[in-house]
Amino acid sequence: MSVPLSVRTEPLGRSVIRGDPYTVWVLKEGYCVSEADGSCRADGSITLLTGPLVIVVDTGGPWDRQLLLDRLAERGLQTGDVSHVICTHGHSDHVGNLNLFPGATLAVGCDVSQGDHYLSHGLGEGQPLALDPHVEVVPTPGHAGRDTSVLVLIPAIHIHATGRAGCCANRCGMFLSIAFAAVGFAGALYSLAVALLGLVNGPTCLFSYEGKPIWGAPFSEKYYGSNESYLVDRDLWKRCEEPKHVVEFNMVLFSILTVASAIELLLCGFQAVNGLFGCLCGTCGGKGQRA
Ligand SMILES: [Fe+2]
Repeated sequence: MSVPLSVRTEPLGRSVIRGDPYTVWVLKEGYCVSEADGSCRADGSITLLTGPLVIVVDTGGPWDRQLLLDRLAERGLQTGDVSHVICTHGHSDHVGNLNLFPGATLAVGCDVSQGDHYLSHGLGEGQPLALDPHVEVVPTPGHAGRDTSVLVLIPAIHIHATGRAGCCANRCGMFLSIAFAAVGFAGALYSLAVALLGLVNGPTCLFSYEGKPIWGAPFSEKYYGSNESYLVDRDLWKRCEEPKHVVEFNMVLFSILTVASAIELLLCGFQAVNGLFGCLCGTCGGKGQRA
């Protein structure tokens, strides 16, 4: 992972993001509400990351002590199970329960310590601090001057979610991907057929036939037989009088659809084969890596 050049915050919209190896739990959602007298009511979020490391991001204020203990217990955790506590800055609603985690690695803003041992790192100089290959503490803009954010890499939620229950679920996930690929394949096949028919038959337009103006398909066998194809004889395009350039439009549109459908067919076909191998052989690698 690399340091983002700019940072924008957005509400998560949900309290759990399941992934592998990390799942993100929002234990408490923060808020900031302006009061009529110019003051404000504000409280920070409390977030838990569970995976190879157990990480609490912001501890809430002292008033959240019991809430934090309860939320951890609901997930089968005690304070001693938490390996890292990251406080994104030093305000009371972010550091109020640090004393619950005396054995954890503590990061407050750009200071990182284990007990009384302050560790060497580059957060103060703008460098990220990798806790493992999936989690980084990153210096970011904020309102306290030495603020950080926590970056969690959660790839391919569907596939990883299927892996949580082991190889059996993984095979089921791969089987599911075959079904998805089959639906995509069928749609692509239909699209390809429609596109080819549209390309071969040509557009509907206004043309003159036996002295009469007709709206129809001037390149179909019905009117002029099948000896000539408008695709190879550009002079035939003149048959279409209205709308202007409808032949070019028809050719470009259906050519794009043909190519897109063909690509989708290939991709869905590859995924079906991939899913079949995954279903038959499994996708579990490095079984010893998971706790
Ligand atoms: Fe703050």
